[in-house]
Amino acid sequence: MDRILVLHGPNLNLLGTRETSVYGTVRLSEIDRDLKRLAKKEGVALTIKQSNSEGGLVNLIQKASGRYQALLINPAAYTHTSIALRDAIASVGLPAVEVHLSNIYGREAFRHHSYTAEVSVGQISGFGPYSYQLGLLAAIHHVRARTRKA
Ligand code: DQA
Repeated sequence: MDRILVLHGPNLNLLGTRETSVYGTVRLSEIDRDLKRLAKKEGVALTIKQSNSEGGLVNLIQKASGRYQALLINPAAYTHTSIALRDAIASVGLPAVEVHLSNIYGREAFRHHSYTAEVSVGQISGFGPYSYQLGLLAAIHHVRARTRKA
């Protein structure tokens, strides 16, 4: 069974109460529950982690090497700042799909650049919690297409 690692970055543990006009009222636990449901339906195994620290996320990405077929990641604010996260993704060679709840291109200019998108298969941004569902389907599609080619 294909294995996918889901990583949530800083402050996403506060979803549901955090800046609800931007991120809505859905909690991270609900997003995770829906992801697990979709994974079960699609026949893939999911591991889900959240970290508020850049080093913590780097460690999780490094440990994922060889254990997962793809990474679904919302790097949150580190999207726009972290060369370390970008390098970690590039180093392990794990296909990554980047997701954002909000449309980062419709917000402040500092959110328009993503270091991590440069090393990801693709990015989904702006669909609220549904971004995660779309991202998981994209990751599964990518893994299956790659397996078929191999
Ligand atoms: C976010 C967008 C980022 O700019 C922000 O720092 C976040 C959440 C999103 O999911 O919309 O924390 O990644």
